[in-house]
Amino acid sequence: MSDSLSRREFLGAATGVAAGATLGAPFTEGTGFPAVHIRPAAGPVAVASANGLRGVELAGRLLIEGMDTLDAAIEGVKTQELDAEDTSVGYGGLPNEEGVVQLDASCMHGPTRRAGSVGALEGIKTPSVVAKYVLLYTDHIMLVGEGAKRFALSYGFKEEDLLTDKAREIWLRWRANRGPNDDWINVPDDEMMVRRETGTINLNVVNASGDISSVTTTSGLSWKIPGRVGDSPIIGAGQYTDNDIGAAGSTGRGEANIKVCGAFLTVDNMRRGMSPTDAALETLRRVVTTTEPRLLDERGRPRFGLNFYAVNKNGEFGAGSLWSGRRYATFDGETASLRDIPYLYERD
Ligand code: GLY
Repeated sequence: MSDSLSRREFLGAATGVAAGATLGAPFTEGTGFPAVHIRPAAGPVAVASANGLRGVELAGRLLIEGMDTLDAAIEGVKTQELDAEDTSVGYGGLPNEEGVVQLDASCMHGPTRRAGSVGALEGIKTPSVVAKYVLLYTDHIMLVGEGAKRFALSYGFKEEDLLTDKAREIWLRWRANRGPNDDWINVPDDEMMVRRETGTINLNVVNASGDISSVTTTSGLSWKIPGRVGDSPIIGAGQYTDNDIGAAGSTGRGEANIKVCGAFLTVDNMRRGMSPTDAALETLRRVVTTTEPRLLDERGRPRFGLNFYAVNKNGEFGAGSLWSGRRYATFDGETASLRDIPYLYERD
């Protein structure tokens, strides 16, 4: 079975746009919000977390060739899902505390207003594609755990061992050093052993017609409690698309994002007229106000990292981070590059 959105769906979506006359006219009519995004992007644009540099380049080129926005976005993130060296996503991702790789992903397709998601999926290298299959072939939005795996296997996805030698070694070192009173003999320490990663890839695209899609995929927080799902598979937290407005998604501490539905909030901030960067930074300010005191430093700043990436229907893009020193990947219609992310707090 084809994993592309069908021609009929495209035609339906296109007909809907024409009938709704949303392009070239204020889309917020009657809502009381300023109508700011009334012009589709001049060319395709993609924005992603920094590990998405190859992904935005690929997605951008595929959009120029006319590929559907969600198909192109997923081709972009697959570069990381299939890359054993990226320990934050897909194959080669760092495992949970028991050494099992559990993957989360979600996606939204603006033109058809559909969403799909998988959580705690084991044994499948490309959870973003499984999430797209949930979107395409079911009346559901989210499948988790064993059910998500059986769903993937039914479509011919191959079950594979996702724990690479590199990820296993990092996990074993963490297990050996997890505490002074555990039953494991310590091994020489280094930064890799003790760091907890929440790496992820989020990628959002808009094509020249102003159609928008988003996808986020991750192996989640390293050494997590088995069964933990973060923000990535949560529609409205890990990513969100409104085809009239834009798309946004996140990387970083998922628990902090889930509490503010940060991707939805960022898109909603754009709906109220903010630029993508201002929208992302405003969401981060909300995150700070909803952070419990144990996670704040003596100056009231979060002790964790969180980033949002956003694009609007005009093809304007931006990002925001809690902390300085982060970069993000963009495809501006011609070239892919890394840019500094505006932030709330300067690192000491
Ligand atoms: N943002 C990725 C996670 O928390 O799982």
